[in-house]
Amino acid sequence: MKPHVYVTRKIDSDIVAKLNEAAEVSMWPEEDVPVPREVLEREIRHADGLFCLLTEKIDDTLLAGAERLSVIANMAVGYNNIDVAAASARGIKVTNTPGVLTETTADLTFALLMAAARRLVEASDYLRRGDWVTWSPMQLTGQDVYGARLGIIGLGRIGEALARRADAFGMQVSYYSRTRKPHAEERLSLTYAEMDDLLRESDFVCILVPYSPDTHGLIGRRELSLMKSTAVLVNTSRGGIVDEAALYDALKSKTIWAAGLDVFEREPVATDHPLLTLPNVVALPHIGSASVKTRLRMGHMAADNLIQALQGGTPPNWVNRPE
Ligand code: NAP
Ligand code: GLV
Repeated sequence: MKPHVYVTRKIDSDIVAKLNEAAEVSMWPEEDVPVPREVLEREIRHADGLFCLLTEKIDDTLLAGAERLSVIANMAVGYNNIDVAAASARGIKVTNTPGVLTETTADLTFALLMAAARRLVEASDYLRRGDWVTWSPMQLTGQDVYGARLGIIGLGRIGEALARRADAFGMQVSYYSRTRKPHAEERLSLTYAEMDDLLRESDFVCILVPYSPDTHGLIGRRELSLMKSTAVLVNTSRGGIVDEAALYDALKSKTIWAAGLDVFEREPVATDHPLLTLPNVVALPHIGSASVKTRLRMGHMAADNLIQALQGGTPPNWVNRPE
């Protein structure tokens, strides 16, 4: 008998076909509506494998009802939506999708950096409102990107890919990360900095650390107060890494110049969120990896991980593999 897989969102038909070869597949039929918790609770009871998105909270309570489950394949590189310790304690493998989204997410991070620095959204809105009556010397002036100093917090796959883009813009790049990367320092001419120094010295600060209890609120009031008044903060990792109330105050009082945000503590962010009232915020709905090719690659990668695990193999992107 084939194992049973539950897929928490309508996904590409080729990926479903791939899963169908190895398993009996049930799928939440909506593309833009998340699976309700009660449906997930019901479906997971008889699932051997779960294909899920970062929108699903896979916690211990949910896993308590998942007696047959042996693998959770997350279609994302970040897996903070999953209680990995709880999964490990129940012998459930957890997998993610690293690498395939690195360049696409680095592109978006750099695009946000430029959009915030040069006020692209604000300028476009200004034009569409009919406020553009003349060219004037200091109208909609922003910050230079070329030749500026970039500070990267979290020098992993995406952090390195961002550093390569920065090099093409003549930027000097510093980084702060959990472990020093001497090879990357040499290869990409990077300078290691302690976080406070990086915040004080950078014109642009990009956050690319994973979200965990260690990084919750990593950028708070004190950290923002260290930054230059002309600095731009870009967060394409997870919303909870930045204290949003502190960021609002820093942007409102011009303690920092602008922010580019692809992620929020609560997603979807409420349309009346204070940050969205500020002209110096460029806000996006978590689209870092959203290119057609990349999203399909992520889906196939999650499916491959799931199938390997169900067949008793070693999934290539097994995040809780025992040492
Ligand atoms: P990665 O290769 O694992 O890189 C993360 C880096 O952060 C690693 O170098 C890691 O250090 C470092 N780090 C971990 N915890 C830290 C801490 N407490 N303090 C300082 N540095 C720490 O991951 P990635 O593939 O680059 O992805 C990074 C994150 O981007 C993901 O976790 C996800 O949240 C986010 N993301 C968002 C989108 C989007 O759509 N917006 C898309 C993709 C990814 P070590 O080298 O010591 O492990
Ligand atoms: C997206 O945010 C991811 O972690 O893949």
